[in-house]
Amino acid sequence: MHAHERVQNIASISKDEIPAEFIRSENEQPGITTVHGTTLECPTIDFNIQDDEKILNQIVEASRDWGMYQIVNHDIPNEAIKKLQEVGRTFFELPQEEKELYAKPPDSKSVEGYGTRLQKELEGKKGWVDHLFHRVWPPSAINYQFWPKNPPSYREASEEYVNHLHKVVDKLFKMLSLGLGIEGHELKKAAGGDDLVYLLKINYYPPCPRPDLALGVVAHTDMSALTILVPNDVQGLQACRDGHWYDVKYIPNALVIHIGDQMEIMSNGRYKSVLHRTTVNKEKARLSWPVFLEPPQEHVVGPLSQLVNDENPPKYKSKKFGEYCYCKLNKIPQ
Ligand code: SIN
Ligand code: FE2
Repeated sequence: MHAHERVQNIASISKDEIPAEFIRSENEQPGITTVHGTTLECPTIDFNIQDDEKILNQIVEASRDWGMYQIVNHDIPNEAIKKLQEVGRTFFELPQEEKELYAKPPDSKSVEGYGTRLQKELEGKKGWVDHLFHRVWPPSAINYQFWPKNPPSYREASEEYVNHLHKVVDKLFKMLSLGLGIEGHELKKAAGGDDLVYLLKINYYPPCPRPDLALGVVAHTDMSALTILVPNDVQGLQACRDGHWYDVKYIPNALVIHIGDQMEIMSNGRYKSVLHRTTVNKEKARLSWPVFLEPPQEHVVGPLSQLVNDENPPKYKSKKFGEYCYCKLNKIPQ
């Protein structure tokens, strides 16, 4: 991949128009397909109320009915989030040659590295976004070659955020387990236990002269078990409800949670992965920092045996997570 094909570079030379491959078909253009005037009231859950049962019920309901919610007053200090965001933004503002030092190697099977999505979408369209992927947990899964050395505080800021994240991860897995009537540790165990992989992605959506015609990330559900995301302060996340697209309101310092495909599978469909996409902004760069909580590639995921019986047959096949991803990316029926 050549540096001039990065969306950030295309954006820097696009004044009023955008190249044809970024113009979505009419059934996708956000200018036509977004329901305006209403931001979606997807649930906001406050972790700082002294009523654990209420929090549990809200998490379980939101995971069943929406597959997406925002958590406020979680224990992650705003300062830790701010630092994570600062170092990520600084990386994307480096000269192009320096970012290319971290480019995903062309022959690599892993997603890790700096890049622009190469895979052809339907109709060969492209998203208005570049990214950086690298694993941040467990330590044995980390490849520091993909962690920027500039800014120098990149590693410390990312590690600090991850240290804070563990508590939220464990709390969510526990509540989601209890919500299924199984023991608190079961879902995390089924997703890989201590080998559960935390994969950080930074999405960089450059300013776009035609935000009505382009999309950032095209409609998808996450392949992870859970995704925990923080955006910068530029609106852009949209969720699909009953076939319509709505803006999900940006809430400062909230954690956005997505139920992913593996959670839907493990719960045998009781929790639902959410269909979502992102729009872009005319003047400002939008960034987001999803952490995908994923089983190891060789780990087999299927509906939990405790949830399956004669009345509730398995709705999904059991397969290795790596195989699931391969099938989804190559559009092979699961
Ligand atoms: C994504 O879901 O892949 C990106 C979400 C976002 O940028 O807010
Ligand atoms: Fe996503």
